[in-house]
Amino acid sequence: MADIETFKQENRVFAPPADFVKNATISGMPAYEALCAEAERDYEGFWARLARENLQWQKPFTKVLNETDAPFYKWFEDGKINVSYNCLDVNLSNGNADKTAVVFESDDAKVTRVTYRELHRRVCHFANGLKSLGVKKGDRVVIYMPMSIEGVAAMQACARIGATHSVVFGGFSAKSLQERVIDAGAVAVITADVQVRGGKQLPLKSIVDDALAMGGCDTIRNVIVYKRAGADINWVEGRDLWLHDVLANQADECEPEWVDAEHPLFILYTSGSTGKPKGVQHASGGYLLWAVLTMKWTFDIKPNDVYWCTADIGWITGHTYIAYGPLAVGATQIVFEGVPTYPNAGRFWDMVQRHKATIFYTAPTAIRSLIKAAEADEKIHPKQYDLSSLRLLGSVGEPINPEAWMWYYKNIGHEKCPIVDTFWQTETGGHMISPLPGATPQVPGSCTLPLPGITAAIVDETGHDLPNGNGGILVVKRPWPAMIRTIWNDPERFKKAYFPEEFGGKIYLAGDGAIRNKDTGYFTITGRIDDVLNVSGHRMGTMEIESALVANPIVAEAAVVGKPDETTGESICAFVVLKRARPTGDEAKQIAKELRDWVAKEIGPIAKPKEIRFGDNLPKTRSGKIMRRLLRVLAKGEDITQDISTLENPAILDQLKESQ
Ligand code: WT7
Repeated sequence: MADIETFKQENRVFAPPADFVKNATISGMPAYEALCAEAERDYEGFWARLARENLQWQKPFTKVLNETDAPFYKWFEDGKINVSYNCLDVNLSNGNADKTAVVFESDDAKVTRVTYRELHRRVCHFANGLKSLGVKKGDRVVIYMPMSIEGVAAMQACARIGATHSVVFGGFSAKSLQERVIDAGAVAVITADVQVRGGKQLPLKSIVDDALAMGGCDTIRNVIVYKRAGADINWVEGRDLWLHDVLANQADECEPEWVDAEHPLFILYTSGSTGKPKGVQHASGGYLLWAVLTMKWTFDIKPNDVYWCTADIGWITGHTYIAYGPLAVGATQIVFEGVPTYPNAGRFWDMVQRHKATIFYTAPTAIRSLIKAAEADEKIHPKQYDLSSLRLLGSVGEPINPEAWMWYYKNIGHEKCPIVDTFWQTETGGHMISPLPGATPQVPGSCTLPLPGITAAIVDETGHDLPNGNGGILVVKRPWPAMIRTIWNDPERFKKAYFPEEFGGKIYLAGDGAIRNKDTGYFTITGRIDDVLNVSGHRMGTMEIESALVANPIVAEAAVVGKPDETTGESICAFVVLKRARPTGDEAKQIAKELRDWVAKEIGPIAKPKEIRFGDNLPKTRSGKIMRRLLRVLAKGEDITQDISTLENPAILDQLKESQ
């Protein structure tokens, strides 16, 4: 990963190509500036106009923003809406009924297409099936599914009946799943027998069985199982049901449940700097509005596009930019079950070629690993594929280093596709800072400017604006429709985490550092300012991993820090003190392996520390506080040049230099 100095020195500018500008939804900087000016002139009027023009309301709203209970903001609160209606029914009467909604490609490259008419029918079956099991408005449903049409349909079906879904990424462990089921108080889990990725099967249903067997999940009445591969699974009579049985004989129509705009559409758990993952709660109306607008503005979506977002529905990107946004604008999208490296690292480019994808949205980690693969093997180099259908590229999840940006621009976009480097978060619901492809000149490594209506700014520790050119804390000054509404079950934590009193309690704290360019005002994100790591675009709290480690009976103490990594952005480095003597040599290697597997079981394989180092102790101040900044230096393999006079036990530093 390039460090911040590299980003700051970047001065290459790539103007949007003229023919892109000509046809773009937001065409040229003046059009962007006009929207920003409209928002500034009349903030509520701006959002109200967009919400009327872009969504179908069953009952129109008369109130726009309610700030009386700030920071628990409400948007369009007296309007009634249904998200699934806006994603499906709307497309049955506007000429899209027979248009392909989803091109699904399985791990082994079998392709299934569904039209909007067919997807609507399937979602209605699903919704009626859930209703037949007694699932109703306001109930929570956990979805633990592979990438599939059924996964998207499950989310849409919940939205249709007003049930609040909570999708759990298929890579999370039984323990993580259990915690989420309990916190959400879910009535059902929708899962599959297995998930197939990279030619391997991952036993989702048996992980659900384990999670529910851990106890505390008494709210669960049913486990609905999609038969993906016909694998052998255990069956709990009375609780478990095959999805095909639930869907059989259901009516083709399901009247949508009209809900208040503020009705919780979903809860999605994400990591914070302290404690257990937080259930980020999103509303219906405001969230959908932003999904639609950003599909139009950032992705410039057009009727003939073949759009492909490679994210998983288990993350926010897969919610907004697979399950909701593309459908709400009537797009044709690719949904991919597998991984970028199977059967080889040319898979993405092969799929772009075969499906003639026009818009491609992926993570810097994927790009960096495919650069390496292409350099190692000519046969799967992107130049071997016809990528001429592409017109727009996107990046999401972590900072994209200028080298990776340039490679993407040249080798995938052939210097004719703008790149939208989209900065946003689970909490923001959709893009916040991003180039507009037909307007904003792009600078590699910079997410450029806030979208119209987004009042992003950089402030100091006291919440005061910093002049451009100074690094500081990224905030959003005014509420926006797609913002997080609260943390499920924990409104106090919501206030503390995002609207701290030190900043006046009314501005949203993103948790990232950023810097604005002196001349252009362009934003560059410098990374998290809390104890949250970003490994391959996956967000993880250091404390969560530490808690997982110390839950192991042999571990006395653990401290986890991030270390810059060329491919994954950051990697996890754990410093561990055992209850027994500090291991060395083969024994240390063996224990490190056991601990890695342990973390995979506690949280999921994505949380496995890449490195584990053992010490007799950790570097601590005299008051017993672990000095993490020293651990970060050690993790990088650098010499300690900082002042260590407050360190109680300097001798320990030598021990911790060595990794297992
Ligand atoms: C964190 C949010 C965005 C949806 C997927 C991840 C980092 C995200 C960028 C970007 C630099 C980025 C931030 C943010 N991040 N996009 N374009 N440039 N950093 O959502 O799991 O909630 O993670 O990802 O650090 O806070 P998430």
